[in-house]
This record gives sequence, structure tokens and C-alpha cells, in this order.
Amino acid sequence: MSAHSLANRPNRSFPTPRLRPVPFRLGICLSLWLVVLGAGCTEPGPAPPQSARSQPVVNPDPDSGDRQLVDERNVRPGINDTFLEDGAAESYAKRFEVESREIFAQRAALVDALGLHAGMAVADVGAGTGVFLKPLSEAVSDGGKLYSVDISAEFVGWLRQRAAREGLHNVEVVQNSEKSVELPDGSVDLVFVCDTYHHFEFPLNTLASIHRALRDGGQLVVVDFHRIEGVSRPWLLEHVRAGEDVFTREIEESGFRLTERRDDLLQENYFLRFERVSR
Ligand SMILES: C[S@@+](CC[C@H](N)C(=O)[O-])C[C@H]1O[C@@H](n2cnc3c(N)ncnc32)[C@H](O)[C@@H]1O
Repeated sequence: MSAHSLANRPNRSFPTPRLRPVPFRLGICLSLWLVVLGAGCTEPGPAPPQSARSQPVVNPDPDSGDRQLVDERNVRPGINDTFLEDGAAESYAKRFEVESREIFAQRAALVDALGLHAGMAVADVGAGTGVFLKPLSEAVSDGGKLYSVDISAEFVGWLRQRAAREGLHNVEVVQNSEKSVELPDGSVDLVFVCDTYHHFEFPLNTLASIHRALRDGGQLVVVDFHRIEGVSRPWLLEHVRAGEDVFTREIEESGFRLTERRDDLLQENYFLRFERVSR
């Protein structure tokens, strides 16, 4: 096993744009509008160039200790639409739970690599059809708790039925929103995001909610596709908005420190572990 501890790696940091409070900016906008009699503020200009990286982090109160994120644009509109359709859970179970899918074939090794123990509280964010429902529930045992979180009502219903059928009493299924994991503050020790980070439509808002949900020293593990221009298949380049570097930067800028990268478990995907740091 070659676990690469990156704990000593210098932490990359990027300046967070500081904008004036929203009422102040609205005031300027209104004044300009009055001066130029209609030019500018009310007419939508051409759409700004879209970059793969989620950008605006606006903190109207930098001293509050908790970033309030507003105005984050949807980085991937429509990517989750098919998960919301009637019958999605049944049809996606046939696609997600096949040995030809690396995540599924390696599910036991992945859960093992998380390093869970009895009594922990864990959240599987983007739980889908429940590939990890039973193994995660068993890893934290009866004294622990698994929050199985998904935005799709279809999957949430499916997960509830599956947990009941499999007698998993320590599972709470949560239907969250596109911008928040909707978990209580300081409620979990580890958040697992498998094949789902690239589905986050508002990644910075979602990361802020994960940061709040984690206890001090809590961990975030992200498994996602390698995305390499000129190497990855065209469907993947189109489907996954950015690669490991961009996602790592977004996560680090959201109050996390990369502590581990495993390249011995998976070939099509990477496995990254982050630790929550105070902001
Ligand atoms: C490709 S599936 C992966 C499912 C599961 N993790 C697996 O590996 O089998 C992505 C899942 O993420 C869910 N999802 C997308 N955006 C989400 C968000 N912001 N919060 C929680 N779940 C989300 C989708 O509904 C879908 O179930």
C-alpha cells in the first residue's frame, strides 16, 4: 500500500476576492443608472466567459468567522436532471451497481481506505442508489451513525427502503438542497463524496455546508474521475467540468488541507483526503 502523505506539502492559498457589501454595491449601481439614464445596470450584457472553476466567494462580513457565500453561479446546470426523473433509482441501480464500474468493483477497498471505526458519524454525500449504504453503516456499527444524503427525491426514497430492507438502524437518509448538505453543525467526523463532486452545481456553497457539518479535525474524502485533456475519453471531458487540480484548489480554498492521496486503489479515479481547518 503506498499511501502518500502530503501533510507537509506547502498549502496553496489564493486570495479571496473581497467585495463591498451588497447594499453598498447596489447603491453605486443605482447612482450610475440615474447618471447614465438607463445605460449599464439594467441591460444584461453578454454572458461572462464561463470557466470550469467556480469563482465568486463573497463574504459580506469578513469578521463573522463563517463565510456567507452568495451569487455563486451554477457551474453545471442540468447535470443532475436525469437523477430527478421518475424511475431514476431503479434504472441507475443497473448502471451504478455493475462490476465494470471501478467504484463498484473497488467498494470494499474504498470503505477500508476511509479508516472508519465504531461510533463514528459519517455522511455519504451523493449516496445515489446506495452502493456504500451497508458497508458504511456496518463500519461505524450500531453506536455510530450514517447520514445518507442525496438531492434526488427518487434516490432518497430508494435509500430509505433499502436501509429498512437491510435492517440498517443507524442510517438517516437526508434529502438535501443543491447548495447545502443540510446536516446539523458539527455533526459528523467524515464526509465521503464519491463520484459526486463533479455533480455539485454550487460547489463552494456545498463545501461551506460540509465545513460547517464537520467536527473540528473532521475529514472530507473525495473520489472522482481523472480528467486529462488529450487523454480522457471525450464523454468524460464533456461530463466532468474540471480535473483534480481545480477541484483540489476549490476544496483547499474552502477551509480544508490535503493530507492524503492514494494512487494504489483506483485507475480511473483519484482518492483525496482533506482535513477541516479552522477559518
Ligand atoms: C454519479 S452519482 C454517484 C452515486 C454514488 N456516490 C455512487 O458512487 O454510486 C451522483 C449522485 O450525486 C447526487 N448529487 C448531485 N449533486 C448533489 C449535491 N449537491 N448534494 C448531494 N447529492 C448530490 C446525485 O443525485 C447522484 O445520486
